[in-house]
Amino acid sequence: MEEIKIQRTDHPAAKPDAHGLGFGKVFSDHMFLLNYDKGQGWHDPRVVPYGPFTLAPSAMVFHYAQEVFEGLKAYRTADGTVQLFRPIDNARRLKDSCERLCIPPIPEEDFVEAVKTLVKVDIDWVPDVPGTSLYIRPFIIATDASLGVHASHSYIFCIITGPVGAYYAAGINPVKIYVESDDVRAVKGGTGYTKCGGNYAASIRAGERAEEQGYAQVLWLDGVHRKYIEEVGSMNVMFKIDGKIVTPMLTGSVLPGITRRSCIELLKSWGYEVEERLITAQELFDAAKAGKLDEAWGTGTAAVVSPIGEMGWEDQHVVVNGGQIGPVTQKLYDTLTGIQWGTQPDPYGWVVKL
Ligand code: COI
Repeated sequence: MEEIKIQRTDHPAAKPDAHGLGFGKVFSDHMFLLNYDKGQGWHDPRVVPYGPFTLAPSAMVFHYAQEVFEGLKAYRTADGTVQLFRPIDNARRLKDSCERLCIPPIPEEDFVEAVKTLVKVDIDWVPDVPGTSLYIRPFIIATDASLGVHASHSYIFCIITGPVGAYYAAGINPVKIYVESDDVRAVKGGTGYTKCGGNYAASIRAGERAEEQGYAQVLWLDGVHRKYIEEVGSMNVMFKIDGKIVTPMLTGSVLPGITRRSCIELLKSWGYEVEERLITAQELFDAAKAGKLDEAWGTGTAAVVSPIGEMGWEDQHVVVNGGQIGPVTQKLYDTLTGIQWGTQPDPYGWVVKL
């Protein structure tokens, strides 16, 4: 990649109070941009003041959703330094998403350099209140002004950032999730394993219905049999059933979460057997009713490790671990966030200092 040009804003925004930040509402002063044009490749890397794009109303992303994104975080450690968590894994997953959506890939080292450069420019936006971080949202959009359904010849790669607290209003308190029987999020052969906006658009209706019934999120079933549980959309899921950890296998319609992978590695290092396999909703609810569902939790960059305290499925309803966070969930949360915020050693080499 060419040298990244930096144009700083003349109007820095006031930083919000880092207590009670919530998720994804406040954005830092700058953004990273990189353009793609056929014949030229990716060009003109630059950091500029955060601001609106001008795009033709016919830009392909508005019509056919040729778009991919990522999510990662920068963490402020006790000594004031800032670090990233496994950014190369986001770079690799973005490449996989690009391949599926016919978007020219961004070289992994360019992705990491762009993230580091932007976060350095907005380093003062990385909050230091416990439980907060700077959320980083890289995304690529198709910009050809054309209504023919084909791959665009021009794209914008953009990265925006913003300080965040907990994704769920409940924070680390257990969330209620609802198993969706009608709508499906993804199917094998589709885009379920990628991070593309379309997956999330397809999830909104069920999410709204679940919220109306008092649930925080939807737990998706597979699109073919409608019986195997897949993921929550904003997080992967894991369960402790009868002493064993089980999590849905990556069938092609489940997102290969980086927090998911990190949790599996931690759990195995603690001696737990972790089964990545097909799990029916029936098995889950039967285990809960038999008192064998010890713990349930979600994993994600935004969600971190979120305990699941209650689950609904049609007319069935179960409470997990008395609606309290369980010991494995708590240990995962403490260890993962300890590594991310630098209060615990990082024997895995996951953390990248700025
Ligand atoms: C993330 O965890 O970074 C995500 O991208 C999930 C998002 C839909 C909130």
